Amino acid sequence: MSIVVNDEIIEKIRDSSELVNIVSGYLSLKKMGSNYVGLCPFHNEKTPSFTVSETKQLYHCFGCGEGGDVISFIMKIENLSFIEAIKFLADKLGIPLEENKKVDEKLVLEKEKIYRINIEAARFYYYNLINNEKPIRYLENRKISRKVINQFGLGYSLNRWDGIYKYLKSKGYDEKDIEKAGLIGKKKDGIGYYDKFRNRIMFPIIDIKGRVVGFGGRALDNDMPKYLNSQDTLVFSKGNILYGLNLVKKHSDRKKIILVEGYMDVISLFKNGINYSVASLGTAFTQNQGKLLKRYGEEIYICYDSDKAGINATNKALNILKNEGIQPKVIVLPSGQDPDDFIKNNGPNGFEMLLDKALNYMDYKIFINKQKYDLSKAEDKIKFTKEIAKNLRELKSPIEKDVYIDKIAEDTGISKEAIRNETLGVNHNNGKTIYEDKYINNKYRDNKNKIMPIKIVLESAHLTAEKTLLKLIIEDKKYYNKIKNQLTKEDFLNYECNIIANIVFDEYSNNPELIKIDSQSILERLKDEDNIDFLIVNEIMDKKFDFLPEDKEKLMEDLVGTIKYSKLKMKRREITEKIQEIESKKDKNEGDVRKFKSLCLELTELDKKIKSYI
Ligand code: UTP
Ligand code: MN
Repeated sequence: MSIVVNDEIIEKIRDSSELVNIVSGYLSLKKMGSNYVGLCPFHNEKTPSFTVSETKQLYHCFGCGEGGDVISFIMKIENLSFIEAIKFLADKLGIPLEENKKVDEKLVLEKEKIYRINIEAARFYYYNLINNEKPIRYLENRKISRKVINQFGLGYSLNRWDGIYKYLKSKGYDEKDIEKAGLIGKKKDGIGYYDKFRNRIMFPIIDIKGRVVGFGGRALDNDMPKYLNSQDTLVFSKGNILYGLNLVKKHSDRKKIILVEGYMDVISLFKNGINYSVASLGTAFTQNQGKLLKRYGEEIYICYDSDKAGINATNKALNILKNEGIQPKVIVLPSGQDPDDFIKNNGPNGFEMLLDKALNYMDYKIFINKQKYDLSKAEDKIKFTKEIAKNLRELKSPIEKDVYIDKIAEDTGISKEAIRNETLGVNHNNGKTIYEDKYINNKYRDNKNKIMPIKIVLESAHLTAEKTLLKLIIEDKKYYNKIKNQLTKEDFLNYECNIIANIVFDEYSNNPELIKIDSQSILERLKDEDNIDFLIVNEIMDKKFDFLPEDKEKLMEDLVGTIKYSKLKMKRREITEKIQEIESKKDKNEGDVRKFKSLCLELTELDKKIKSYI
């Protein structure tokens, strides 16, 4: 089958993709001023320099120079060709490429029909609710006001077998379609249909585009199951939606999102002013729901019921969210309660106090295991330590590890040594640093004793950093003052950058009254130099800063860091080459051995420094 990728399709893909959302699927972005920033997926960095502009739909990394639009992002991160990236995005966005057009058009129509049926049903359920005393009384008992009923579009399914069936038929809908929407089912004998939801409070499940995709229904009496959800349909898949996310998107500032278990928890929190909770729908929390949370919230909290099932579910959700690169916190409720119970008894202030005390991953694991084991018993102490050591091992930061070892020791009376041994027992490498050298492909030529700068090939991140820093210091002396103690003009290795850096550094130090440097005067002076690549010079002079992160100080730090890091890596390459050279020698003399040892020492030192940048 051939597919057609024309300008129209490409345009459509660019228009329909939200770059921030797409990028968020791969790394976590934080809003900074008008842009979003995160850790660059294309090079190794500790502080974020990867910037996404929502208004321009472009990304750029100031650490490595990568940049472009949604298509180039997908090409690079998924390692795809242009056409493959188009296919990938078209698939993700549900944009039909020519070959599927006919089939998809039919599908789109079918989906639209289900949406229409659902909205019609929601209206009918709502009408039934406000005209029936029984469900109204039930909701009154649960302190749910008319306003909240309207905000959530709550309804009531009549206590009969043909309520929604007759209503929708009378509106002209085909029974086959009503069945596809999941509202009615075929009778056992195969003749005729029956209403799936009967005598239940109805919760329309609304997606972030405001479409009713399905329903949850709570039994009014003691019918089983207590909650019944729509089956999965063409427009509804339980594991891909979060109840309440539409309202979070609409009402909250999206700083926090709280994940809860049930419909009533979301509603109860909402009516108490906490308008940022969502529930997974009667199934275990899924990876896709994790992705949704990541996309829509900055800080994620888990607040499941405080019972055995809730604790298990919390541990699972913690792992899923960690897989998404999120560091969620856990709100711990008093035993046996759910958020609905808690806020009913303690009010919004009580809940917010709990929220402030939410536990991070490690604190939660400690909390749970302390409940599980009786630390006054030796045997339990050992089990506790082993369990916690497993979690400690997962922590990436050695500092964090240390902090927790201290904390656990203090909390439990178990010696730090014992915890440390248990934690480090595996993967011990005698302090040797194992380093993977995969970031430098370019050949380094020794540049130390040069009189004239020589042309050397730099990593793109390094080159971008030199160019951007130069532009900044040319434009404003305050930036020069910032870096002059961290970098010298010799640190600029690119031929053109080095010459410009010489001019700029000399100008500023010889003329203390200068507050910026006229780029024209630099261009004049460059005319006298040989072999200048004016493409690079122009790139520096024309660099536009409308796309820079707001935080210039941090940018400067990043850029200086990139240069230093890159130079260390070059130095490392040089040393390993020398080591290999000696190793490959057949007859090694004493001098070689001495040299070998000192090079190895140098390498170890260097690796320590390199590590401090990762
Ligand atoms: P709970 O049983 O904790 O209900 O189920 P709840 O939120 O406390 O409800 P109330 O207060 O008794 O009305 C939590 C969630 O699990 C799903 C539903 O999504 C529910 O909101 N669930 C529960 C089902 O899907 N089916 C069930 O039979 C029970
Ligand atoms: Mn409840």
